[in-house]
Amino acid sequence: MGVSELARALREIGFGEVYMREGLRKAKTAVAEPPKEELLRSLFDSYRDCKKCDLHKSRSQVVFCDGDPRSPIVFVGEAPGEEEDRQGKPFVGRAGQYLNKKIEEVLGLRREEVYITNVCKCRPPGNRKPLPQEIGSCFPYLKRELEIIKPRVICCLGATAGEGILGRKLSITKVRGKVYSYPFDPSVQVLLTYHPAYILRNPKADGEFTEDLRTLKEIAGV
Ligand code: URA
Repeated sequence: MGVSELARALREIGFGEVYMREGLRKAKTAVAEPPKEELLRSLFDSYRDCKKCDLHKSRSQVVFCDGDPRSPIVFVGEAPGEEEDRQGKPFVGRAGQYLNKKIEEVLGLRREEVYITNVCKCRPPGNRKPLPQEIGSCFPYLKRELEIIKPRVICCLGATAGEGILGRKLSITKVRGKVYSYPFDPSVQVLLTYHPAYILRNPKADGEFTEDLRTLKEIAGV
């Protein structure tokens, strides 16, 4: 194993910066960083009582994340719905069941092998679209979450997720299937696709969704 491979392997198992003396054939010192689970837990602890926007008045709980923080793939949705608000987990309702099925069929992965989160962590009343101010209040949490995970690809489910991640207005029918760079870390790719709830309402779009997940599989290298 070469020095750079060793450094990469150390980073993958949770080490932070790895320092090597010039010309040295093996890693000299490795500074351990807390595991991703621990970093995520303290991030969540920092906002489980968040009252930055009015959604705290109607939510049952803040809905954080689900899945594997070491996955190369992060799915980002819009905001929790009724079932998510009840269970405290993203994508556990009908749209989530459809998403799980597609993750298995197209990516060949189990839901537990990817990481799933939302741009907005609290349920908007009546499942309305989150307001720009609500998305803005939540964004620092999502940004930190993505810094901790550092995935290979962020797959945005729907226009709201795409707009939250890329920071600009977009039309999902025009940009679906396209790959961009994450503005806060251009080494992370961003793939845009439809929201699973849209496919449930428009089953004809299932083929395009499948196509986008194939692109995801390829660029994530899974
Ligand atoms: N829709 C979303 O955007 N997120 C969820 O967690 C569930 C449904």
